[in-house]
This record gives sequence, C-alpha cells and structure tokens, in this order.
Amino acid sequence: MKSAGKQTVLLGITGSIAAYKACELVRLYQNAGLNVKVIMTKHAQRLVGAATFRALTGNAVATRLFDDPGNPINHISLAQEADVLVIAPCTANVLNKIAHGVADDLLSTTALATTVPSVLAPAMNAAMLKNPVTQESLRVLEVAGATIVGPGKGYLACGTEDSGRMSSPEEICAATLRVLAQSKSLAGKRVLITAGPTREYLDPVRYISSPSSGKTGFALAHEAAQRGAAVVLISGPTKLLSPLGIEYVPVTTAEQMLEKASEHFDGADIAIFSAAVGDFRPVRRAEQKLKKGEDSSFTFDFSANPDILATLAARRNAARANRPYIVGFAAETEHLLQNAEAKRRAKGADLIIANDVSDPRVGFASDNNRILFVDDAGSEQTELMSKQQLAAIIFDHIQQKL
Ligand code: CTP
Repeated sequence: MKSAGKQTVLLGITGSIAAYKACELVRLYQNAGLNVKVIMTKHAQRLVGAATFRALTGNAVATRLFDDPGNPINHISLAQEADVLVIAPCTANVLNKIAHGVADDLLSTTALATTVPSVLAPAMNAAMLKNPVTQESLRVLEVAGATIVGPGKGYLACGTEDSGRMSSPEEICAATLRVLAQSKSLAGKRVLITAGPTREYLDPVRYISSPSSGKTGFALAHEAAQRGAAVVLISGPTKLLSPLGIEYVPVTTAEQMLEKASEHFDGADIAIFSAAVGDFRPVRRAEQKLKKGEDSSFTFDFSANPDILATLAARRNAARANRPYIVGFAAETEHLLQNAEAKRRAKGADLIIANDVSDPRVGFASDNNRILFVDDAGSEQTELMSKQQLAAIIFDHIQQKL
C-alpha cells in the first residue's frame, strides 16, 4: 500500500562504478521531500555497501527476491508502495534485461511488476551503448513510457572520453521531480484517442489503407495513462501492443471508428483524433474474392467516409458544452500553418497538431516527429524528437488550455 504524505522513490542501484553517485541522488531526493527506498543488485553491492544506503535513507535496503521472511512477495509490495521507480545507474545488462521482460532478480522483477512511471539513467561503456541491441532496448523502453535520462559524454571508468557517462544526480533528480509532478496531473480526467490507420475491404482478402503505424496515438495513450487519466484508445489495425491500464477498442473501418468514438466522446475531457482515417470506402464490398478474369483493369466506385473529428466536434459545438477539448492532426506537404489553421476552423478543433510529411525524417511510421501547434493563440514549432517525448509535450500543451 502507498503511504499517505510523502511520495516514495524506489531507487534501483546496479553494478556500475557510478553507483557511488546514487548516495548524492538520495540526498537530493530527501531535500526535495521524498521518501527513498533502495533496491541493490548483487553487483552494485560489490561497489557500495547496502549499509551506506540503509544509513542514508533510514529504510531497509532490499537486495534479494526472498530476503524478507515476513514478505515472500517483496517485489510486488515494493512495486506498489512506490510513486516512481528510478534505476540509477542503470547498466547495459539491467537495461537490456528489463527491455525484454527478463525478471531474474529483485530489481528486474520489480521493474516488470510495477505500474508506476520509471526513470532510467544508463551508465555504460561507449561500445555497449552504441551496440544495436542496447539502442533497440532504449527504444523499446521509451515506447513503453520510461523516461531515459542521458547518458552524457565524458570521462568513463574504462579510461576513455565518450558517450555512456551517467547524467548528474541533479539532472536525474530534476527528471524524477518532473515525472512525479506530471504523474497525477490528469487524475479524474477522461481522454479519448483515435489512432492508427483504418482499413476498407474491397473483397474478403484485399483492402485499401494507409501506412500509419499508430505509434503517435499509442504514445499519447500511454502518456495520458501515466498522468493518471482514464484513457480510451480506439485504434485501427496496428502491430503495436495495447498500453497497460487503458481501455483498448480495436476497430477496422472508419465507420466503426466513428461509432466507437461517438460512444465515448460526450464523457471525455480531452478528445484527440490522431487516426489516419481513410477518406473513401468502396461503395460495394465483394462478397467473394475478386478474380482476375480476362480484364486487364478493375474499376471501383468509392464514397466518402464520415469525418470523425468534424462530426463529433459539430456535436459538441451544437450542444454548446465546454468539453471535451478537441485536438486534431494535420499531415501536410506544403503551407503547413495555413493548411493547419484552415483545418482547425473547418473541423471545429481547439488545437491542430500539424506536421510536414514531406520531411523524410518524420511522417508516417517513423519513430521521430517535429510538430507545429496551431490554436486560437497562434502557433508554436517543436524540435525533432521521439514520438514519446512529443506525447509529453503535447499533454503539457493541452493541459495549459484546460
Ligand atoms: N480525420 C477524421 N476523419 C476523417 C479524416 C480525418 O477524424 N475521415 C481527422 C484525423 O484524425 C486528423 C484530422 O482529421 O485529426 C486531419 O486529418 P488529415 O488526414 O490531415 O486531413 P483530411 O481531413 O483527410 O484532409 P486532406 O486529406 O484533404 O488534407
């Protein structure tokens, strides 16, 4: 159970030479008014003694899965007591393990069992950091919602100056405080998100769709859930796993997406339409697989799909209700600002998030994006960053408007 009053940081310390810096980190957390509980891996204890952290924190230091005789499921209670899990330093071994769900000691088991936000401060040799396996793990963890702090460049224990040095305790503490401040900021709010492509079948085996991966919508759903919102994610077909702790509603066609979004729209405080909805659907779907036959060409008649955002925004405007706050996206290849503002007005959105899909670094299915916020106060451009980082910035922006 969580204790009332002070928030608790569960600090995992792993076997990097930077482990001694965790002592300073504990002090910074305490100065910020936080309670600190420490888990140490076997290797971390060879570098700094558990007694040091027991003395610094005033709490028992957990070191093994089965070392608390009164509590055989220590990893679950530790995971539930915490408000945030921080692993600093986080070695390549622990990083790669937790990215793949390996749970073979107290810290990795706790990391797998926890549902609270996590902050990871990697510390490792530069070659280990650059290894594609580690890079993939960093990406997986970030997509899963972890906040990765650093690592920076500097003097490494192996004697070189390179990337892999753990960020300073001050930076890690600041990131932790940011995560904690955000973590309850949408408590009590309901967030509706549409995501992914829609799919319109021509016959039982062929369809038209778009290459949308759904990554942006899923990252937004994850971010909203981490901030304490009740999230409904309505998504067309993607290869992504539905984030934990949200209501996931899979759909296929634009009409199904409208029907489900319509059910959840009125109760929402924020509605974000990030789906790449197909604008057209075949007038008639063939019951049986179409055969090539003699003809060298096929002709299909298409009719327009409903515009989900515009349909639901019109319902809000007609009802003159204040909520939900409506966010749309605009994928453009030219005149970004003008097209986005025109879309905002035409569709009745409060905010349009525009991106230039002609830029090869961003656009459909990429991991990064760079966006332009367009609302009644004007416009604001972000840097190029990961979709998870953008999700955080998008909610920071929206929450200022609520
Ligand atoms: N949208 C929607 N339903 C549709 C089409 C779009 O809800 N049938 C939403 C998208 O989720 C997005 C916004 O409208 O939030 C703009 O989508 P976009 O594809 O950029 O624009 P379109 O309306 O399709 O216009 P165009 O293709 O002409 O640029």
